Amino acid sequence: MSQNKYYITAPIYYVNDKPHIGSAYTTIAADVVARLRRFSGDEVYFLTGTAEHGTKIAESAEKAGKEVRVFADENAAKFSLTWDHLGIAPDDFIRTTEDRHAQAVEKFFLKLKSSGKVYEADYEGLYCIGCESFKKETELTPEGLCPLHNKKPELVKERNWFFKLSEYQEILKDKIEADEIKIEPFVRKNEVLGFINQGLEDIAISRRTAKFALPLPWDKEQTIYVWLDELFNYCTAVGYGADEENFKKFWPADAHLVGKDIIKFHAVIWPALLLAIGEQPPKKIVAHGFFTVGGQKMSKTLGNVIDPNDWVDKYGADAVRYFVLREVPFGQDGDVSEDKLKVRYNSDLANGLGNLFSRLTNMIEKYLGGEIAEIEKSAKRAEIEDALTLTDNFKFNIALEKIWEVIAWANQTIDKEKPWELAGKDDAKLKSLLNDLAAVLQDIAFGLAPYMPETAEKIRAGLSAEKITKAEPLFPHIE
Ligand code: MSP
Repeated sequence: MSQNKYYITAPIYYVNDKPHIGSAYTTIAADVVARLRRFSGDEVYFLTGTAEHGTKIAESAEKAGKEVRVFADENAAKFSLTWDHLGIAPDDFIRTTEDRHAQAVEKFFLKLKSSGKVYEADYEGLYCIGCESFKKETELTPEGLCPLHNKKPELVKERNWFFKLSEYQEILKDKIEADEIKIEPFVRKNEVLGFINQGLEDIAISRRTAKFALPLPWDKEQTIYVWLDELFNYCTAVGYGADEENFKKFWPADAHLVGKDIIKFHAVIWPALLLAIGEQPPKKIVAHGFFTVGGQKMSKTLGNVIDPNDWVDKYGADAVRYFVLREVPFGQDGDVSEDKLKVRYNSDLANGLGNLFSRLTNMIEKYLGGEIAEIEKSAKRAEIEDALTLTDNFKFNIALEKIWEVIAWANQTIDKEKPWELAGKDDAKLKSLLNDLAAVLQDIAFGLAPYMPETAEKIRAGLSAEKITKAEPLFPHIE
């Protein structure tokens, strides 16, 4: 098998608070695709981490009465621990406060300056600290609030350095239209093209009054605008300016996974900056929608969050991974709640998959003395392969639906064929039926492995035991 490199990223999260289920969403999705690609033999690099600079974090630390670095350390550790609880296994966890990042960002900015695409000018704008970005009046509610944070942005008047984003309008448009920079889903591609067609304005790349940020290398009065510092993490992690060979191998990124609120940073500003310094833009950007609570975006700033660790403790990591990718089509918004999780847990996991595994292993123990023939490709392999292709294309909910169709088929086959009635009457048929179903279940586990690694391993181990015995319930019923 030829080995391709595959570089996939999740965003780096602000450490103004601990993670919530919305932040876990992108990271789980990226982990699933990373696992799938590893199975298929690619050399995968899956990156996530934490964004630790900026006023938002400095002010949160102040509120918490902590020194900002201590505060950032604590929250960064919570992110990494939560990912661990969720079975998320990145190849690297980058923090923007690391030296390797500061060094790479400095090189990036010096290169940007020498590109001739930056200049100094006075600026006046409305800045939302929650978004860490300037907002146009048209992006605000009629009351003048940021719609994502329900807060009034502050008026900032400063002399800043600017990047000539406006010069990249045509080239970005061409690359996005031609899918050279592929934006998914299609609605987001259209949104980004619409935004570009309205005309791109130059953007401030430095700030004079921001708190806790990296210094601008050529003007010590200014700090680097946090979003540019953050975006560059994707290059730092693979060795920009430090390990050129590794950088060349992994860059450009194959897929940046992001929430729809940060699509413009990734699909417009980021590619333009890369082009300005002579690097290639990312190949693909995939944006998902928001998890909402009662219709409102779940957010640290709004305080309506669900802690994924609570769900993992009650239902297990695999159930949470399954739920978030199954419940809401990737790309759309959707309400999530513990009640919804419970419904899926009991119906899809306990009654569907769990029941299939325990009744099948039980019957193999009872009727076949725990022995089955060596498992080969099942009758449902094509369906499972379809599901894996869908997974690779970030169509998680459809992929899972397909796998559950196979699970339902297997359970129905058992109900219809009634193996318990075949016992003693038609043992040859009984044996071949249970062997066939074991092969199907093995393929189900294969399809589920990227999504539910622990469960897939339990099934695989259960079916490959020398003497198969009735399995413990994978997902005990929850009242
Ligand atoms: N630091 C930036 C990202 C820089 S990437 C170079 C940032 N951080 S964040 O912590 O505010 O958000 C990180 C990601 O979490 C974003 O992709 C955002 O869309 C996602 N989510 C935050 N709340 C969410 C929901 N309620 N639902 C789904 N995703 C959510 O932005």
